[in-house]
Amino acid sequence: MYRSRNCGDISKKDIGAEVELAGWVHRRRDHGGLIFIDLRDRSGLAQIVFNLDNKELHQQAENLRSEFVISVKGKIVERAAEAVNKDLPTGEIEIVASTLEILNTSKTPPIEIADARTEPDENIRLKYRYLDLRKDKMRNNLIFRHKVTKAIADCLDQEGFLEIETPFLTKSTPEGARDYLVPSRLNPGKFYALPQSPQLFKQLCMVGGLEKYYQIVRCFRDEDLRADRQPEFTQVDIEMSFCSEKDVIDTIEKIMAHVMSRIKIPNVVMPFPRLTWEEAMGRYGTDKPDTRFGLELVDVSGLVKDVEFKVFKETVKNGGMVKSINVKGGAKFSRAEMDRLEDEAKKLGAKGLAWVVIAESGLKSPITKFFRPEQINALVSRMKGETGDTLIFVADKAQVVHDVLGEIRLQLAVKLNLIDRNKFNFLWVTDFPLFEYSETEKRWVSRHHPFTAPHGKMEEIEERFMKDPAGVKAQAYDFVLNGTEIGGGSIRIHRMDVQRKVFKILGFPEAEARSRFGFLLDALEYGAPPHGGIALGLDRFVAILVGASSIRDVIAFPKTQSAVCPLTGAPDVVDIKQLKELHIKLL
Ligand code: AMO
Ligand code: AMP
Repeated sequence: MYRSRNCGDISKKDIGAEVELAGWVHRRRDHGGLIFIDLRDRSGLAQIVFNLDNKELHQQAENLRSEFVISVKGKIVERAAEAVNKDLPTGEIEIVASTLEILNTSKTPPIEIADARTEPDENIRLKYRYLDLRKDKMRNNLIFRHKVTKAIADCLDQEGFLEIETPFLTKSTPEGARDYLVPSRLNPGKFYALPQSPQLFKQLCMVGGLEKYYQIVRCFRDEDLRADRQPEFTQVDIEMSFCSEKDVIDTIEKIMAHVMSRIKIPNVVMPFPRLTWEEAMGRYGTDKPDTRFGLELVDVSGLVKDVEFKVFKETVKNGGMVKSINVKGGAKFSRAEMDRLEDEAKKLGAKGLAWVVIAESGLKSPITKFFRPEQINALVSRMKGETGDTLIFVADKAQVVHDVLGEIRLQLAVKLNLIDRNKFNFLWVTDFPLFEYSETEKRWVSRHHPFTAPHGKMEEIEERFMKDPAGVKAQAYDFVLNGTEIGGGSIRIHRMDVQRKVFKILGFPEAEARSRFGFLLDALEYGAPPHGGIALGLDRFVAILVGASSIRDVIAFPKTQSAVCPLTGAPDVVDIKQLKELHIKLL
């Protein structure tokens, strides 16, 4: 036995007791006659004292350095009043050592573990991740992640979901990113794909009669990486039979209630708000709105369609739109700041960014000269403009207006410091369009995946598509937290006749569908029950809860933005011999 107690768990009520502790030398302070060691284990810190009563032991302690691994025996005593450390849970006591064993030494670490304030370059953090993990931040994040994961799993268990594993060596899945491929030695020229999600297998579990499936599972996607994207990430993957959209949403809300109460985050009001996709796009310019602040988009096309300002008039006439945001308090922005905002809008794809400042002295704007007084008054009143505000406008096709103002809205919220970091605004976005037109492919494609069920009568899908392709809505839903998509799912098509019609609409030859997901299509013909589900992005969810700016801070061994692991050096070259066995020749 190395220890009888954990460092962080001892307290005043243990005074007088003999303990054995083991851990790392966090800090060492040598006061001549007295040597103090902050001993650290996963639970926290305890102060060990080596005094001159035991000269041999004191001498041994002089050799201790940061991150040595030691075990000590000693007696718990109360600290002198002036030595109490209020910042430390164990700050009222210390351990007077009677024995010391050095279990291992350490080189001087390239990361200063005891320094909570500064953080080395991320490459160093990832190369020496095992040292970075010793710091409070990473340790606390991973402990927190464990708690969240456990709460989710416990809740799903209570609700009757079965944890079922699905293969990693499989065929390409339809999530739409690039696959990671694994060559097959036993089948020359053939490749497995690592799953982008267990989508098809979870549907097969439903056909298999398992009714309620979940899996906390790694997914692999070869896509361009960002702060909230990793090449391998974790989903809480869920699928249910005989369910409606409401059942899936209710299940997630139950899980969230359970998680938030376990991690003691109060004031989360349920049920979460539900916005249709159209409403989300209209009011926020995005399908993942951050509702912690206002600055909503307002459609003013109707009010500006007859003004002299050509840009506005023509845009509306040609089927575009003009939207505005009332930037509350924006009148304080300098001319240079407004120019920067306009440049930003242009970078995002707008042709310009018109503005009207509502100043004490009246309106200031490059465009009001094109408005009659009653026109501008109507506009200001519609925008609820008050002295001190600035109205900004973008005129363009709907998509450009939404992309630009949606992003400008986020930037303004940061600039104006409108975001309350203690808020957790969950919401659902529903009624996504089932199809969207792909300009690159010049055809209609699925927005989610081709197995997503439409709203309304499924068997009439073709007629409905012919009438209004963009108007067919999907039984698909996204789960959003503070402006990040943390989950998405849908009710699936469970009938082959309907599935065939959807493939036809997509111009997806049945032969191709067969070769890619024939096994699923076969399964649909053997009594597939109605089913649907969702997947939560666990890394993103946990990162938002702990306030991390990147999901890398809640993953023990993540990869860099260029998909490299500085710790192991992966990806790396391999032996020619290995390649030969796999029948692979490098170009
Ligand atoms: P989707 O592709 O929307 O749905 O993924 C579900 C959630 O996974 C998270 N996510 C990611 N997190 C980190 N890094 C990534 N590269 C990454 N990609 C996605 C997001 C996202 O909301 N099979 C369907 C689910 C279903 O239909 O049931 C699916 O995978 O938070
Ligand atoms: P101009 O007449 O080009 O000088 O534009 C007058 C103002 O209208 C400038 O502030 C431009 O940024 C703005 N503007 C130009 N095009 C657009 C547009 N498509 N949407 C919004 N504002 C625009």
